[in-house]
Amino acid sequence: MTDPQPAAAGGPLDPASLEAAVAEALAALAAAADLTDLAAVRAAHVDGRSAALVLARQKLGSLPREDRADAGRRLNDALGAVRDAHATRLAELTAERDARVLVEERVDVTMPTRRRHAGARHPLAVLSERLVDTFVAMGYEVAEGPEVEHDWFNFEALNFYPDHPARSEHDTLFVEPAGTGRVLRTHTSPVQVRALLSRPLPVYVVAPGRTYRNDTVDATHSPVFGQLECLAVDEGITMADLRGTLEVFAAELFGTGLTTRLRPSYFPFTEPSAELDVQCFNCRGESARQPCRVCSDEGWIEAGGCGMVDPNVLRAAGIDATRYSGFAFGMGLERAAMMRHGVREIRDFVDGDVRFSLPFGIEG
Ligand code: DAH
Repeated sequence: MTDPQPAAAGGPLDPASLEAAVAEALAALAAAADLTDLAAVRAAHVDGRSAALVLARQKLGSLPREDRADAGRRLNDALGAVRDAHATRLAELTAERDARVLVEERVDVTMPTRRRHAGARHPLAVLSERLVDTFVAMGYEVAEGPEVEHDWFNFEALNFYPDHPARSEHDTLFVEPAGTGRVLRTHTSPVQVRALLSRPLPVYVVAPGRTYRNDTVDATHSPVFGQLECLAVDEGITMADLRGTLEVFAAELFGTGLTTRLRPSYFPFTEPSAELDVQCFNCRGESARQPCRVCSDEGWIEAGGCGMVDPNVLRAAGIDATRYSGFAFGMGLERAAMMRHGVREIRDFVDGDVRFSLPFGIEG
């Protein structure tokens, strides 16, 4: 049995050694520049296996019994001082790190993002392309004309003579300076004339586009609106061809299995002229028995105007009207889209709010 060793001067538990160990630890803690440094200082001076105070504690058991209490108290005081200093430095360095992170990793939430929202295709563009595709599938070509049009194309060549009463129905917007004969086209029908003048016969064209009239905006009227025109001029074209083409069109617009009817009407550039009605896709013509919001209990939806091309129009384009005949059809895009999707406000089409467009889907 070995004798307990006296608390030899210079041993790790004597006051001077402890004081030195504490001083060294405090200096190292104060010098720790960041939390990584501090972790290393903690291992070396506070509670790591080789920390002077940890080693000193191991020696406690080997002191003579009478010395142990004093040494233990001194050791505890020393350890407490070092732990306190560590806790204080830890709090300081953590606060410093947090403050730095707040500055360095600051996000300016008001900055414009680089992310682009996918957006949505405009429902009128989608509908128009869909209808155009139907005609293209039947062999038609897409034709275009200017939105600022000449009176001759917009009216005269379409058999609206200068004092023709039907002109007044068109609420025309004239383009300055007066006297140049320029108007904002009131319909897509002038594209008929342009196509006949610029293309070899036979002509099968479909012409979607924007049109303008001096209408006051309300829930169903807009001074800017879209139309889709179709024209077929060939040898031997009859009203049966018109009828068959309209059946295909109606099925594409409102669904299959709906009856269509032609109601006698008048347009200067067609003879005979008719309005195309399609059986209401909602009540299927049953509105006599149950009220229908879509067709206002009519049982039918007006889908556009049509007719056999007036020989005067063919003649205006230099075409032999005894050899060639044709049919034409024109419709309003907004109206069709409103019917098809239950849109109540025509303004929604021009407001440009993507929340309106998104539910129509993004596919073409
Ligand atoms: N252009 C006419 C309008 O805007 C619509 C129209 C009617 C077009 C009959 C046609 C047609 O091609 O044959 O009121």
